[in-house]
Amino acid sequence: MKHQFDVIIVGAGLAGLRAAIELGEDTNVAVLSKVFATRSHSGAAQGGIGAALGNEEEDNWEWHMFDTVKGSDYLGDQDAIEILARDAPRTIYELEHLGVPFNRTPEGKIAQRAFGGHTRNFGEAPVKRACFAADRTGRVILDTLWEKCLQRGIRIFDEFQLMSLLVSEGQCHGVIAYELATGQLHTLHSKAVLLATGGYGKVYKTTSNAFASTGDGLAIAFRAGAPLEDMEFVQFHPTGIYKLGILISEAARGEGGVLRNNEGKRFMELYAPVIKDLAPRDMVSRCILEEVRAGRGIDGKDYVHLDLTHLGEEVLNTKLAEITGFARTYSGVEPIKEPIPVQPTCHYMMGGIATDADGKVITDSEGTPFPGLYAAGECACVSVHGANRLGCNSLLDILVFGRRAGKEMRRYIHTVGLSPLPANPEKEVADKISALMESNGNEKGGPIREELQEVMMDKVSVFRQRSGLIEALEKVRELKGRYQKIAIQDMGSCFNRDLLDAIELDYMLEHVGSG
Ligand code: FUM
Repeated sequence: MKHQFDVIIVGAGLAGLRAAIELGEDTNVAVLSKVFATRSHSGAAQGGIGAALGNEEEDNWEWHMFDTVKGSDYLGDQDAIEILARDAPRTIYELEHLGVPFNRTPEGKIAQRAFGGHTRNFGEAPVKRACFAADRTGRVILDTLWEKCLQRGIRIFDEFQLMSLLVSEGQCHGVIAYELATGQLHTLHSKAVLLATGGYGKVYKTTSNAFASTGDGLAIAFRAGAPLEDMEFVQFHPTGIYKLGILISEAARGEGGVLRNNEGKRFMELYAPVIKDLAPRDMVSRCILEEVRAGRGIDGKDYVHLDLTHLGEEVLNTKLAEITGFARTYSGVEPIKEPIPVQPTCHYMMGGIATDADGKVITDSEGTPFPGLYAAGECACVSVHGANRLGCNSLLDILVFGRRAGKEMRRYIHTVGLSPLPANPEKEVADKISALMESNGNEKGGPIREELQEVMMDKVSVFRQRSGLIEALEKVRELKGRYQKIAIQDMGSCFNRDLLDAIELDYMLEHVGSG
């Protein structure tokens, strides 16, 4: 089936939806999502979105910029970071005007809380910079933008899996997608394509990421010739629920929660005497593992305690309601009275498809654009986070650069015509699906996926060594070889999860092995 639009956006998280809104009512835009749009992973963001509003105490964008540059281990792009920090207050007021229900101060201003690595006066002490809606900040922003898209009549293709980009003569002019409900292929023809497909935390065994975070956009862009940047920079959030990886927001420490070892000691006081538990998350993750290595994990195991008991029932049940519920449901602890068992969990990918600050995919260090191809959000690397992203800078990044990508595409589509479609645009993808369905190989996708997640967790996580990385790369190459022999059991065309898992596994092996 064929469709024609000015712009196709792949991904219905905040970057994709913000770009769609920016494209304006006179642009024919479609958003494609492999899940129902409001189940996009942006909705899982808990603790807040950073902006130097100064509503709770003095703050300014230059301090925010400094913290972000420092937090990135001085490896972020400082021009892009300046854009991020300067544009943050405008972004928040825009969300407020769209109807996002932020928490409020007693006098009615947008409330702000502390977050790791955010300081006043260039590192002097923690500052309250994260604007929030309890611990459901991503959820309320996602729902608000989605409603705005519906109001504007933007076409959303829910449950469509991206299969490939249409590229001819070096120019991107659409995508091929697979409809989950019917198994039908669709050609979506356009002047520009924005990839906003999110991260790929699912390559790790322990992660806070959604099942859909398999990095499809990265693999597909890479295959089409777009370089990936900073792929070695993977963030581990210090407080994932022990064994499960489900996120316990940094907001818990922003509200005053503390980490304790098996002696009940608040160990972050030793490692970061000034900002303590509010040190940047790469540092806190390392410190937890140092405690475990020194035999100070709880019961000699590889986790520590997050103690919120002193915060009181009111704070837990209102400002931290979501994570309090998670602790009750998944750890079986009552956070009002007991500490929560936590350990680092793979949370965020700093690396991704190389772009400039306007979302244009770039193909070399000169900034040469890939005509018609754009990327924004976690799948892109602008790069504002360098080697380590500060908490609450992710929602900000995806909204600031999602908007800029929308603006730039709006300009671009008036400068080009629609390239003609090739004779049979879906053939290559159809052949690939047939080969998978007809294969009588002796491998299954599930075990390959599990082995990939294990080796990434063991050898490519918080601490890495050359020998471990070499071992992991060899393993990924072996798994890629085995993938060639996988067979699909389910022959159906309606929500064929077996086939879809195999397609996602192919993408995971592609970008992990791209180094
Ligand atoms: O801890 C958190 O709420 C996560 C925030 C973030 O990744 O920015």
